[in-house]
Amino acid sequence: MLIVTPKLKYINGQLYLEEVEVKKIIEKFSTPIYVYSKNQIIENFKEYKEAFGDRSHLICYAMKANSNCEILRIIKELSGGVDVTTGGELFRALKAGISPKKIVYAGVGKTKEELLYAIENKILLLNIESADETKLLNYLANTKKTKLNIAIRINPEVNTHTLSYISTGEEGTKFGIPISEAVDFVKYIIKNCKNLKLVGLHFHIGSQICTLQPFIEATKKVCNLVRKINLLGIRLKYLDIGGGLGIRYKNENPPTAKQLIKNLLKYIPKDLTVICEPGRYIVGNAGILVSKVLYHKSLKNKNFLIVDASMTDLIRPSFYGAYHNIIPVKLSDYERLPKKYYDIVGPVCETSDFLGKKRKLPDIPNNEYLVVETAGAYGFVMSSNYNSRLRPAEVMVDKDKFYLIRKAENYEDLIRKECKI
Ligand code: LLP
Repeated sequence: MLIVTPKLKYINGQLYLEEVEVKKIIEKFSTPIYVYSKNQIIENFKEYKEAFGDRSHLICYAMKANSNCEILRIIKELSGGVDVTTGGELFRALKAGISPKKIVYAGVGKTKEELLYAIENKILLLNIESADETKLLNYLANTKKTKLNIAIRINPEVNTHTLSYISTGEEGTKFGIPISEAVDFVKYIIKNCKNLKLVGLHFHIGSQICTLQPFIEATKKVCNLVRKINLLGIRLKYLDIGGGLGIRYKNENPPTAKQLIKNLLKYIPKDLTVICEPGRYIVGNAGILVSKVLYHKSLKNKNFLIVDASMTDLIRPSFYGAYHNIIPVKLSDYERLPKKYYDIVGPVCETSDFLGKKRKLPDIPNNEYLVVETAGAYGFVMSSNYNSRLRPAEVMVDKDKFYLIRKAENYEDLIRKECKI
């Protein structure tokens, strides 16, 4: 049985995450449920950290991958910062105790209120993405009588060979300032934006990228731009190289964080502090989604396992056609029986509501459980209440202990915000 999650293993036919039997978590908190390995998160983060050696750096975890405050607290304990993309994420980061001096904020559509929130909290860097945003920010800084440190998000226009929906650094996407226009853009800021101080450049080219080449190409291009900007008399302090490193969902063989960082550092001038924003790499392989088999159903040429998790809990398969490995929680007698191909589907009224298709699995009986692997990133955070489904609980495992980090929703939660009830 293929298992891609490093901290999952079978002991006497029962699945464990770290030293906790998954069945014990189900007994206590029911399903569907997200479960994360604290020590995997720590290992992933440390791998990034160690790759930098003595180079000046800051790891700003891209909390859009998983923004549970307990995960942010773990990042804080590791001296990490965060990359935020909305006022809501900034709120969570501050609540979790992340220092504003370790927060960077990129996003194409930051509202005036969000910009003010960031200014008032004196975050490390606002990464601007358009001329209109720059004008507004300069105006806001002026009204606050302050000079703001900013970075420009550059679109380096490289091909990432990842899914088009998660590619951000190719020509024609909405993100950043096209690299060909960047020097003029900097000149515009110098001339017109007296309340902004350009201190860095930022790029993020996409997600789940499994080769080094696009990262290298983007880094070279942007470092070249750093030199051109130096010639305009501006000494930059930061280079933010974004996130985007891929992980294994099935049989991908992406470079490690160490390989990525070591390679990129070769091209980056030593006087720059390097910021990086890994999201998926930190939490992706630390998380699983556990679900109960409700029913079996067979058509002429298809077998369905109908389970209690759905696209409302994990939308990646329906949305991106993403593959997540699926394994049983219990490997017992039925493991020895012949395997069949199953579509694993949820209860939602959409044909696209599936977690996996054509999966060769033992006949997992009704009321037994299965695990959807590599669900720590872009899992819970993309969940919804469609069909008035309740968002699941989240649990953290730490060696032989486990604890709730978010309660499952209940029916009352569904209508809490509605008026005139
Ligand atoms: N920095 C910026 C500015 C980003 O937009 C992102 C992700 C990251 C960092 C982190 O990228 P990562 O290291 O996680 O690849 N929902 C999609 C992924 C969307 C990624 C959006 N931006 C998925 O489920 O695959």
